[in-house]
Amino acid sequence: MTTNTIRKAVFPIAGLGTRFLPATKASPKEMLTVVDKPLIQYAVEEAYAAGIRQMIFVTGRTKRSIEDHFDTAYELESELEAAGKTELLKVVHSIKPDDMQVVYVRQHRTLGLGHAVLCAKELVGHEAFAVLLADDLMVGEPTIMSQMVEQFQEWRASILAVQDVPREHTRRYGIVSGRQISDRLVEVSDIVEKPAPENAPSTLAVAGRYILTPGVFAEIEAQQQGVGGEIQLTDAIASLMRREKVFAYRYQGVRYDCGSKLGFLQATVDLGKRHPEFGTDFQEWLLNSASAQ
Ligand code: G1P
Repeated sequence: MTTNTIRKAVFPIAGLGTRFLPATKASPKEMLTVVDKPLIQYAVEEAYAAGIRQMIFVTGRTKRSIEDHFDTAYELESELEAAGKTELLKVVHSIKPDDMQVVYVRQHRTLGLGHAVLCAKELVGHEAFAVLLADDLMVGEPTIMSQMVEQFQEWRASILAVQDVPREHTRRYGIVSGRQISDRLVEVSDIVEKPAPENAPSTLAVAGRYILTPGVFAEIEAQQQGVGGEIQLTDAIASLMRREKVFAYRYQGVRYDCGSKLGFLQATVDLGKRHPEFGTDFQEWLLNSASAQ
């Protein structure tokens, strides 16, 4: 059964973040901060803006600060209140609006993205759900997840966010190919995890945003280890395609790969330039510092 709307989002956050060492030795990569918000908050806000109210974190060891971030900070809040700092209090409250529910399930061993999603099976139940990978920071208006929910409402099928990448980068992504339905939509007939450029069926890469039907859980359960010895979500989607239609949606917006140091810097500069408080000053500083060199 699939409902008309997407109510639940799964955030796999148990990964080790080795691409960002040493920063991620003792701190979760999802808590790395772009300008003034941790990556996980951007992803949660994106889901919330798409109407999703239940956030399911698939968490692991060393990730406690994420739970604290979305919890009440009693001392901080009462101090801000006593000091009459209402604006800051609003900022703190907005991290978890009252109508948002955050639930946690533990992934005891990091066996891959597919396995992480499977850990949320009982919490998701029999309805279509979203998956957001927080290290992909996605910026779009409307948000990328809102665009995807709209596609889901039209097609009632799994939707994968995709973008074109240079062929030499196919090894970093799940790569899809299929029949072009419209400018932005492809009916997927092939999906492969991290193929070598010469084997990639196309250059259309999956970004870290998915809407999946609940049928995907049985497919994950049936998976053997895939690329990198992991239980891959991509392989489960490939199996799902034998039973159901799966669509790839070329989203409108920008993706920053904040799991990589370069992508993280790009996000910091771009979002810094747009910041309502100091964006203009920052842009000016960038110009001056470029001309001073
Ligand atoms: C995961 C998925 C991959 C997808 C990518 C998007 O890979 O397995 O299919 O293209 O996210 O960021 P990871 O980056 O976790 O290795």
